[in-house]
Amino acid sequence: MSTIKIHDKQFKLSIPQEDIEKEIIRVSEAINRDYKGKRPILLGVLNGCFMFASKLMQHLTIECEISFVKLSSYQGTATTGVIKEVIGLSESLTGRDVIIVEDIVDTGLTMQRMMESLGTREPASIEIASLFLKPERLQVPVNVKYSAFTIPDRFIVGYGLDYDGLGRNLPNIYDVVE
Ligand code: IMP
Repeated sequence: MSTIKIHDKQFKLSIPQEDIEKEIIRVSEAINRDYKGKRPILLGVLNGCFMFASKLMQHLTIECEISFVKLSSYQGTATTGVIKEVIGLSESLTGRDVIIVEDIVDTGLTMQRMMESLGTREPASIEIASLFLKPERLQVPVNVKYSAFTIPDRFIVGYGLDYDGLGRNLPNIYDVVE
């Protein structure tokens, strides 16, 4: 289906699943190279990361672990700017190589907050892997080492990303029709 309706908005097909997964494999291969001989811990940011984290991890051939935190900053299609940590982290990160796994970096505020909070836990390193990056929207400097796609300023759903709770199950990415 090339056009769909979620709540009050129309969305049109933008990136098919096959293309998404090709880029995720490229990111996995880069991580396999960069972390050879190490044992990174992936830290997935719920809810949006679940499909990306799953596909990314399936293609990691190095030893690796995964854990999740849950944050929220969005309501509808606009960020509230207020980021709440809903579920915290129980593992020790001391001396660990941490890879934050995020669905999309938009204003960058969520990642800035994560970097600040994880930095106090004495990890050996922290990098960010994001399925999408919207560079035009960045409000704070955030270094996203691994991104599958760089996209313009537009609202998208699918592959784990939602519009007010719906659309996460869509296997493709859809763009909002303004
Ligand atoms: P940031 O703190 O502004 O970078 O926002 C990051 C979070 O906003 C992501 O983890 C998503 O949950 C949400 N978000 C940002 N842009 C979009 C979008 O286009 N579609 C769905 N969710 C989005």
